[in-house]
Amino acid sequence: MTTSSKRYTVTAALPYANGPVHIGHLAGAYLPADIYARYLRSTNQEVVFICGTDEHGVAITIQAQKESTTPQAIVDHYHKLIHQSFKDFNISFDVFSRTSNETHTKTAQEFFLKFHKDGKFKEIETEQLFDPEAKQFLADRYIVGTCPVCAFEKAYGDQCENCGTSLNPTDLINPKSALSGAIPELKKTKHWFLPLEDYQKDLEKYILVDHPEWKTNVLGQCRSWLINDGLHPRAMTRDLDWGIPVPLADAKGKVLYVWFDAPLGYITATQEWAAQKGEPDSWKKFWLKDHANEDTRLVCFIGKDNIVFHCIIFPAILMGQGEYILPWNVPANEFLNLEGQKISTSRNWAVWLHEFLISFPGKGDILRYALTATLPENKDNDFTWKDFQSRNNNELVAILGNLINRMTVLTHKYQNGLVPEPGTLHVEDEKLLAEISITAKAAGEAIEHFKFREALSIVMDLARTGNKYLADQEPWKKINTDPDRIPAILYTSLQLGAALAPLLEPFMPDTAHKINLQLGCGKHSWEDTLHNPRFLISGHPIAPPVLLFDKIEDDIIQQQIDALKHRKEEIEASNLPTLPSFPTKSKPEISFEDFQAIDIRVAQILSAQKIPNSDKLLELKIDTGLDHRTLVSGISQYFSPEEIIGKKVVVLLNLKPRKIKGIMSQGMILMAEGKSGELNFVTADAEPGSTIQ
Ligand code: 2FM
Ligand code: ZN
Repeated sequence: MTTSSKRYTVTAALPYANGPVHIGHLAGAYLPADIYARYLRSTNQEVVFICGTDEHGVAITIQAQKESTTPQAIVDHYHKLIHQSFKDFNISFDVFSRTSNETHTKTAQEFFLKFHKDGKFKEIETEQLFDPEAKQFLADRYIVGTCPVCAFEKAYGDQCENCGTSLNPTDLINPKSALSGAIPELKKTKHWFLPLEDYQKDLEKYILVDHPEWKTNVLGQCRSWLINDGLHPRAMTRDLDWGIPVPLADAKGKVLYVWFDAPLGYITATQEWAAQKGEPDSWKKFWLKDHANEDTRLVCFIGKDNIVFHCIIFPAILMGQGEYILPWNVPANEFLNLEGQKISTSRNWAVWLHEFLISFPGKGDILRYALTATLPENKDNDFTWKDFQSRNNNELVAILGNLINRMTVLTHKYQNGLVPEPGTLHVEDEKLLAEISITAKAAGEAIEHFKFREALSIVMDLARTGNKYLADQEPWKKINTDPDRIPAILYTSLQLGAALAPLLEPFMPDTAHKINLQLGCGKHSWEDTLHNPRFLISGHPIAPPVLLFDKIEDDIIQQQIDALKHRKEEIEASNLPTLPSFPTKSKPEISFEDFQAIDIRVAQILSAQKIPNSDKLLELKIDTGLDHRTLVSGISQYFSPEEIIGKKVVVLLNLKPRKIKGIMSQGMILMAEGKSGELNFVTADAEPGSTIQ
């Protein structure tokens, strides 16, 4: 249990500003980090909670290409959206910065120049993959191929998103350029490498000797990097036109590697926070060895795909620079799946935070609760809508909401809505009151050990104990048999209710606030619950009863499940590639024989109808000149059935038939897709059956 005050920098991984955030992000890093930061504040620790958007790297340029816009427009848009989502879910950052800020460019370039000046980089000319068609070097993310570890076919050159393995582009089997589809060639280029092997010994001591208490999933990955693989030089620069320019005369067209710049964003954000407070030097005591003390702790919350970057590369950068403290802990979570499948941004298999609040307005705390209860702390875990419903109905409504409601209703019924003067407390009353501090101590220890699920469950057990106490005491019966007991029973229950607010606050801040309003008590801290927590004064009025939570009905949950199911079918039916959808270069050449194998003909649409439960799909009957056949086409968002009947279209006839939404689709209508994804028919003024050659 924390007794003395320590100084904490709590960081949560800087999300790429290339898309909205979803429940996997929240459960991976932001929610545990927020619970931790709130708890620390509530136990009187000195805390600065840092985040911001990661705005460099090819994740951004790829998204810009997908959305046919500029990287700047992408980061501006998603920075705002992501920041809003975090505010909506009450993630209590002290600062939410951006790595495109000028202060960050300055800090990152200063780090780079210090390494350069101190001779701590190796300048190495290497052969890198180059796209002969797009005529540019391919950053790792622009290369896709088969993962050598799990055989996933869409692994990127730096990482397999399926198994989380960190890769080099040359590890991929059958690598292809994501820009043009061309097979990349090797070409010479010079880069500045961090010789990680020089830090191997110090890193081994730092992680394996000094921090055996780190989570086993984190230590496991570190051991594998340090011991199984051994460390090798890693390039800290890239051939790209988006990022922080390498501040050297002979580095034209090169930028800092995003994993060199992004973690330094934690430092810049702290500097910005200090400047905003009007104490520009106050960041130093959180970061610099000379200003910190042995009780200064840097805690970095991340998802498992960031472990190597935060435990090996970032510490090596800090060690090389020399003046900074190292992470004290890196409590990485594993991945959260959704309904049994890996969350995927590109396949839209996710619950997006901004969309959740449209479907469930005002219920951010419910999601916080359900996610905390299923955090993937030690292994991957699964979010399901049924579990979400059951957490709400069977736990929040039935246990917590019910407890607060019962004590309020009874106080209004038997005590005119005033906190009673208890008189003499019985043993069972004292026992219940003692449970508050016991709970606070146990749950606090769990939080300090990054066991947030356990902490929440301990706090909820206190609410369960409160319900049992009321059920055992039966004030509704004692009002007739032993009315003198009522004040003590209600006094005890109300004190328990009031103490639940600070204990729930790290997990569900809105709910804690509502409990405070309901019971009319001021804001108390976690620390207060450790010492004789009787927050309500006798005679104090409590508010009329309102329900803290509502039941979520089956049909509401079914809608979410159906929407996901529908989305899955759309994904399966969709022909859209997951790579940038508007190729700027032509595809690799094929032979005349390849072309002759394709049977493309003019056909006429005979009938068209929408497919139920699908926004995109139409079922078409067509006359191919050879036969009448059925096909399913994803054009419903662009054309109504009425407007296309009778139209002459061009159809790929010998595409292998496949079932879409239970309908066997025999062929594919060819469409011209414009830059913004708009679809146009390819038409031909010829009889159905005319061949295209
Ligand atoms: O994985 C990611 O989303 C990265 N943008 C995390 C960066 S964390 C830090 F180093 F900035
Ligand atoms: Zn893999």
